[in-house]
Amino acid sequence: MKFSDHMIKKWEIVMSLKEAALSVREKAYAPYSNFKVGAALRSTSGEIFSGCNVENVAYPEGTCAEAGAIAAMVAAGEQKLAEVYVVASSPQPVPPCGGCRQKLAEFGNRDVKVTLATVEGDEFETTIGQLLPGAFDASHMEDS
Ligand code: THU
Repeated sequence: MKFSDHMIKKWEIVMSLKEAALSVREKAYAPYSNFKVGAALRSTSGEIFSGCNVENVAYPEGTCAEAGAIAAMVAAGEQKLAEVYVVASSPQPVPPCGGCRQKLAEFGNRDVKVTLATVEGDEFETTIGQLLPGAFDASHMEDS
């Protein structure tokens, strides 16, 4: 059976953020930490974008899963987050790093739901605002 673009689009919308995050996590390139992370986000158009961490032998050059998912969304011409899901094989649902919290705040309102998860299925629901209270945003530069 051949899938049309329309069918693939439909499937993307039906596929849950959780499935997308678990699936992209498998593709993570994490030979140095061995800590694979998957992030999936839904933009306000309803489309799903995903990303995984991509490490580098020059450690600071590595990028987080959330950054990859955000880059995919922006490259597709979208800039507004509706929901986010992040998953890793960790004892507790994986908390995004500080830099990723700032990156999420750039593209989503304070009330955007963020689900942090383990591959075993433990989930913790939070929001962009709770992850980064007192965030620095464009309003802080109004006088300059
Ligand atoms: N990492 C992410 O991709 N997202 C997070 O939210 C936490 C940390 C990655 C970065 C690095 O490749 C590995 O996990 C260990 O820090």
